Amino acid sequence: MAADDHRSDPLGRPRPTVQDMLADDPRGVPWQLKDAPYEALGLGGVQTQEYLSKDFAEQEMRGLWGRVWQMACREEEIPEIGDHLLYEVGPWSLIIVRSAADEIRAHFNACLHRGRQLRDCGGSVKAFRCPFHGFTWNLDGTLKHVPAPWDFPHLSEERFRLPEARVGRWGGFVFVCLDPEAPPLEMFLEDIPAIYERWPMEHRFIAAHVAKPLHCNWKIALEAFVESFHVTDTHPQAASYIGDFHTQYDVWEGKRHYSRMISPRGLASPSLGGALTPDEVLQSSEPDAGPITVPDGQTPRRVMADRKRAQLAPVLGPAVESVTDSEAIDTIQYWIFPNLVCWWGHGAPITYRFRPLGADPDWCLQEVYLLVPVPHGRPRPKAAPLNLLRADQSWTDAKELGGLGAVFDQDAANLWAVQKGLRSLRSGETTLARYQENRLRHFHETLRSYLHSGR
Ligand code: FES
Ligand SMILES: [Fe+2]
Repeated sequence: MAADDHRSDPLGRPRPTVQDMLADDPRGVPWQLKDAPYEALGLGGVQTQEYLSKDFAEQEMRGLWGRVWQMACREEEIPEIGDHLLYEVGPWSLIIVRSAADEIRAHFNACLHRGRQLRDCGGSVKAFRCPFHGFTWNLDGTLKHVPAPWDFPHLSEERFRLPEARVGRWGGFVFVCLDPEAPPLEMFLEDIPAIYERWPMEHRFIAAHVAKPLHCNWKIALEAFVESFHVTDTHPQAASYIGDFHTQYDVWEGKRHYSRMISPRGLASPSLGGALTPDEVLQSSEPDAGPITVPDGQTPRRVMADRKRAQLAPVLGPAVESVTDSEAIDTIQYWIFPNLVCWWGHGAPITYRFRPLGADPDWCLQEVYLLVPVPHGRPRPKAAPLNLLRADQSWTDAKELGGLGAVFDQDAANLWAVQKGLRSLRSGETTLARYQENRLRHFHETLRSYLHSGR
């Protein structure tokens, strides 16, 4: 079948498909990657007011952020008892603290006296002493000290315990939920823990953590990182080795909280018209590698994967042998509702988190983590500290991101332009591709179900 034969697929997707490529791998296919589910969710787009309106942003605060499980931090960011950081979303601020060796709590960051925030930033303490008048709480939220207790005869220890949000843990991530009625994290995550058993996120550590405020709605930023459809026009340098239109987008019927894409590398975008030789595909994937060629009988994918496995060998030890080509080079990305996107495998160790900044629908915070496997047989390295860029800085100022910084700048150039353009979109609704943007449709369905479920 010719590489661009669309006829046999009811959705018209170009061949080879990701499943064709996986079937070519002598190492086999992990069960997690064997399916390619497509749930028909119609052809609708998204109402522009979902990105622009203050009312909608307020609805999201109550209906989404006030109810959903959301990733607050990584466990290794608070390794010792008393270590804490602030997790903030919309109006809420939580102190995420390691209150005992294997206990993490999330206290609402407000003094129960006159409401000053207890902590202005993260750090390490033995107790939380409010800087205003000195009321003090133990790490577990119990009351420790009342200044001038004779003047608070109306105050009981039980009533003056710090209120907490719920905490759940999976894969080295700490999740919080502000809704006491929500189902537990284990249910919320659906199949994600089983899927990630092959690539345990808890065996990874933060090698880099960079954040930057962006002048756009949080969903505009997020949605720019969950499809490969934009590669040819936004990242033209990568179209020669990322098979953008060959990407597989997966939405499972009945699974509300995750979706997936598998974006293959080692073949050129169909938008380039098949003009590249295998050597050109390979060389463009590593422009600084000097002359590299594809031996007879091999493919650029196999050569790229072999090179990646050689790089990974010191880190993974003997486990490197079972790393399939796809796991070595492709973007295999699970999007955990609402705002956490974790790459799976070794294509790149990226995790993204997006959230609104305050109540303004025009601003958000994007964070990029590089979560690297703890080197085989070695102790866990310390987590890299957060590098918070200013909105006017380039991602390339974060040297720890290497070449990714320039790629994120290309993405960022679209974001405010989208936010602005949506105001002039006369139809009031975006148009989404049936297949390549079906994950966006799935996400908005789940979002709407949160906003309209009436709790
Ligand atoms: S506001 Fe915290 S001690 Fe008074
Ligand atoms: Fe991009």
